[in-house]
Amino acid sequence: MSKKAPSWANRLLCLRNRFMSPEIETQDAEHETRTRAARRISKTIIDTHRQLLLLPDLTPGELINSMLGDLVASCCEVHTTCTVTEVLSNADIRSILPSLRQKCAEAEYQLEAHWAEYIGNAKDRFEAESRLKQFPYHQNYTDLTRLEISALLSVADSLPRRIAFIGSGPLPLSSMFMLDLVNRWQHLRSGSKRHDEFSTNTATILNIDHSRAAITSSSLMVSKLRNGRETDSGIDVNDQDLDTTSCGDLKFLCQEAAVSDLADFDTVFLAALVGQTKREKEQLILRVVSKMTSGSMFVVRTSWGLRTCLYPEVDLATEALAPRLKICSVVHPYNDVVNSVIVAQVR
Ligand SMILES: C[S@@+](CC[C@H](N)C(=O)[O-])C[C@H]1O[C@@H](n2cnc3c(N)ncnc32)[C@H](O)[C@@H]1O
Repeated sequence: MSKKAPSWANRLLCLRNRFMSPEIETQDAEHETRTRAARRISKTIIDTHRQLLLLPDLTPGELINSMLGDLVASCCEVHTTCTVTEVLSNADIRSILPSLRQKCAEAEYQLEAHWAEYIGNAKDRFEAESRLKQFPYHQNYTDLTRLEISALLSVADSLPRRIAFIGSGPLPLSSMFMLDLVNRWQHLRSGSKRHDEFSTNTATILNIDHSRAAITSSSLMVSKLRNGRETDSGIDVNDQDLDTTSCGDLKFLCQEAAVSDLADFDTVFLAALVGQTKREKEQLILRVVSKMTSGSMFVVRTSWGLRTCLYPEVDLATEALAPRLKICSVVHPYNDVVNSVIVAQVR
């Protein structure tokens, strides 16, 4: 059988291969690896989005937990900047991102609501504590709180005392862990041995959420977890006139983000899921900051890299925001913590 003459394309390829330098070979191999990784990640994101759209609802269960667990793990992988750019500039990914983030936000809310109810229904504090420890993202919240505290301490010599947390959700773990760390730090720093002396100076956190159901279940859950707070009650979800409740140092307010007067707070946190688009975030932040006092700190949760597929990225250095906020520090985690943190000071 006669040998078939090579095509022009093949001849060119052979010629190129014969004269190709080792650097070009390495570059080609890197490009191939990058493209393969970008294709794999893009496929995971697009497939998960398609499956999420098919689900009748987003209540937690084995299937949705594993789907979202895999998605979060893929988006938290660390890749080269080129790979990340390749994924994020993929037209199919760009077209589904708003819908994917919306689905993830809904699923996160459902997951929190489910766990808040499970913990709130425990028979006593001990059972509630043991249930809380089973929450699959318990460690992530602990680590995110440590990240936020470190970011704050990197720009200020003391931790906040009067804190507001906007978008606290049904499961206000951030506030609970924050309060605990802030108080422990203050206790150590003051060197105070007298409990009464220390307890008059403890920090307080006001949890703000526009969802009445979130405020109801979070306040009930917290009252179950805190010893000696049985007299504090959660708010009645049907009582439209009653908007606030308190459980010791954790207070709860059912209100829209930018409505509350925030003048008394030295630090205000903004959850990642308050506002979805860049424009929405900017408008909302402008209104929140207008309610704060000059000199107070504003901590905003944002995201970086592939994690922007899950949570919107916040830009505080825009023309509208820069005159109102001085950016002090930005921290991007490279571990399992999904959110990045921006610490800014109100001008
Ligand atoms: C699901 S939680 C999750 C908190 C999460 N760990 C984070 O950092 O975003 C987000 C909460 O933000 C609340 N929320 C969203 N937009 C809001 C707004 N404009 N004003 C007040 N609460 C808001 C939702 O009701 C929801 O309970």
